Amino acid sequence: MTAVTAERPRSEKRSDGTPLVSMRNIHKHFGSLHALRGASVEVHAGEVVALVGDNGAGKSTLVKVMAGVHASDSGDYLFEGKPVRVTKPTDATELGIQTVYQDLSLCHNLDAVQNLFLGRELTGSMWGGRRIRRAESEVRAREVLTRMRLGNMSLSRPVGAMSGGQRQNIAIARSILWTPKVVILDEPTAALSHSAAEGVASLIRTLADQGLGIVVVSHDIHHFVVNSTDRIEVLRLGANVASFKSSEVTGEQVVNAMVGGNEGVNLAG
Ligand SMILES: Nc1ncnc2c1ncn2[C@@H]1O[C@H](COP(=O)(O)OP(=O)(O)O)[C@@H](O)[C@H]1O
Ligand SMILES: [Mg+2]
Repeated sequence: MTAVTAERPRSEKRSDGTPLVSMRNIHKHFGSLHALRGASVEVHAGEVVALVGDNGAGKSTLVKVMAGVHASDSGDYLFEGKPVRVTKPTDATELGIQTVYQDLSLCHNLDAVQNLFLGRELTGSMWGGRRIRRAESEVRAREVLTRMRLGNMSLSRPVGAMSGGQRQNIAIARSILWTPKVVILDEPTAALSHSAAEGVASLIRTLADQGLGIVVVSHDIHHFVVNSTDRIEVLRLGANVASFKSSEVTGEQVVNAMVGGNEGVNLAG
């Protein structure tokens, strides 16, 4: 009996409440500017967490600390319950944390497959001229896109000819190729039409349903944040000022917390 308990798979262990990532009381200065003043955020497997706040609140800095782009001055960073040191981007990617930045970092003259494998092309042997193994790349790309329920996306069309929503999907697929546990998204619905934004929201939910933890920075409070995330952390001046369960809050309440109407509100269970 005890042996069975000890051999529980990881995913079940996670459901005991240990977050994938837990960052607590994070401080970060840029010179004399105190950008993060004790900010915290955590994300569990299967959960979509929105990070919201006015410009300058510290959202980007906090996710960059999570992604290892900035090292924090102080604070706790736990991954799957264990303290870790994340001071450079490879520290985060080795833990299984991928980031999709707002500029998407795609090459518009290249097609979907070329973009998915940019910088880590599958190549042949040295004496074979290190030719890119296109057929194998296409199979792998199709696998990932199918897992993301984007199986009918064109692999050969230049990304420059795609819509904003399709480009966002390609950028997310690129992060998924690394089989991450956590994906950080910076403004994934900015500059997208309402229907394209809904497509991206549904992709994000698909990934969370597959057990990923998703952290999303978003200004799209009234649509994406309240309708398509699970939990909302509100930052102001580098600190958390409110947290909500997305299903229990209105966009107006979130905006009030962002601009200072409701200090100290905490409706999250
Ligand atoms: N690399 C940097 N160097 C100096 N100051 C920075 C840097 N990045 C952000 N800041 C400052 O830190 C504060 C928080 O910025 P940021 O995290 O980008 O906020 P948000 O993403 O919520 O708009 C702002 O005052 C911003 O000007
Ligand atoms: Mg920002």
